[in-house]
Amino acid sequence: MKRIEIKQLLTQSVEHLIDTTINVKGWVRTKRGNKNVAFIALNDGSTINNIQVVVDLANFDEDLLRRITTGACISVDGKLVNSQGAGQSVEIQAQEIILYGEADPNTYPLQKKGHSMEFLREIGHLRLRTNTFGAICRIRHNMAYAIHTFFHERGFFYFHTPLITASDCEGAGEMFQVTTLNLDNPPRKEDGSVDYDQDFFGKMTALTVSGQLEGELGATALGKIYTFGPTFRAENSNTPRHLAEFWMVEPEMAFYQLDDLTALEEEFIKYCVRWALDHCADDLEFLNKMIDKDLIERLKSVVDTDFVRLPYTEGIRILEEAVKNGRKFEFPVYWGVDLASEHERYLVEEHFKKPVIMIDYPKEIKAFYMKQNDDGKTVQGTDVLFPQIGEIIGGSVREENYDKLMASITERNIPMKDMWWYLDTRRYGTCPHAGFGLGFERLMLFVTGMANIRDVIPFPRTPKTAEF
Ligand code: 4AD
Ligand code: MG
Repeated sequence: MKRIEIKQLLTQSVEHLIDTTINVKGWVRTKRGNKNVAFIALNDGSTINNIQVVVDLANFDEDLLRRITTGACISVDGKLVNSQGAGQSVEIQAQEIILYGEADPNTYPLQKKGHSMEFLREIGHLRLRTNTFGAICRIRHNMAYAIHTFFHERGFFYFHTPLITASDCEGAGEMFQVTTLNLDNPPRKEDGSVDYDQDFFGKMTALTVSGQLEGELGATALGKIYTFGPTFRAENSNTPRHLAEFWMVEPEMAFYQLDDLTALEEEFIKYCVRWALDHCADDLEFLNKMIDKDLIERLKSVVDTDFVRLPYTEGIRILEEAVKNGRKFEFPVYWGVDLASEHERYLVEEHFKKPVIMIDYPKEIKAFYMKQNDDGKTVQGTDVLFPQIGEIIGGSVREENYDKLMASITERNIPMKDMWWYLDTRRYGTCPHAGFGLGFERLMLFVTGMANIRDVIPFPRTPKTAEF
């Protein structure tokens, strides 16, 4: 018997299958009933919705039915009929049931509904079978697909940058070292320091914190590229918005200026959010009901609003004004400060009440590669700030002038030896260009309404946790 996925049964026209025998397979969500009949809600992951299997107890072995409990995996042959009950269009009258796998009710942890997110993280191998994580995983897939579609439609090339690298793009020193040296007894040079000549790559290497530098090599050859891959940061920040392993999308475009860059950032996020509204309606409705009552409203409002462009200096003025009027912040506000998330959220959620793209930051708080403005103080960096999330995108126009870039590298004491290939882009056929990085899980936080970044990726990596 050919298996039919539950999504197909519930969303497509299946008139022609009514009163025929079909097969479905899946995991039992609930079983209830009375002396004569059992109702099994079956889910196969293709959709958040369950198909109802109606079992006439007289036709089935009592022992088999006893072993079909929440979490068990079964295959059902049965007649597809229009449902008499409320809540579903069609249901299946079981004719034959095969029990693939039991789930002992005494030990299977997903019995009742309403487990805490903290508890579900402890059973990360099974939480995927809950409605919430099913919805999140399906939306995650859709967002990844939307991202590829967005860039492909606009003539960008998907460009693969290395995960193992010898350069620290963001210069924040938050890299996970990659080595095959024996850590108990590493080879040493005469001065006592570790001899990395003997390491696998003949030098010190680490997992990438960003594919941008190699992305710039791609953009200055192919015109427009994007990366989409795993990114690693050994920052010890235990917050609901940081992961040690996350996914980043990094487009890089030749001949883009600041206005082109911010326009692309805005268009890109709106495209992804609209995609979710158009393609993930069932899952979003579920999350809207169970997780965040304002979710769909918020998503729609972002798609329909113009994002604010806000120079950093103007942002500081607004924050200082707020402080003068009695608004309390934990961290001080002054020109030159790296804004804390409470400041960013004030601007977005209280002052403008819409997404803000902040531009023209003090050069001291931004990375070495950002294009320097003529004022000598600011650079053409852009952060896209979102309600609930704070920073969702970080990007900039790049400094294409060799001498200015060198000056910035020297100011920051960045070791030149490792940068020669990057500098060659400015030495040979340099061009104005720009790019940004979107934290995929930050986008997922926004689109799902989940509060913690650990709950929008199947297997989160954070300080002291690398289970599963
Ligand atoms: O602002 P960031 O550090 O910028 C860069 O890495 C640039 N090289 C990007 C570029 O211009 N190509 O990081 C970009 C985004 C942040 O805005 C945030 O959304 C996300 O990456 N991000 C993280 N997401 C989860 N966990 C972390 N630890 C993150 N660190 C950054
Ligand atoms: Mg940033």
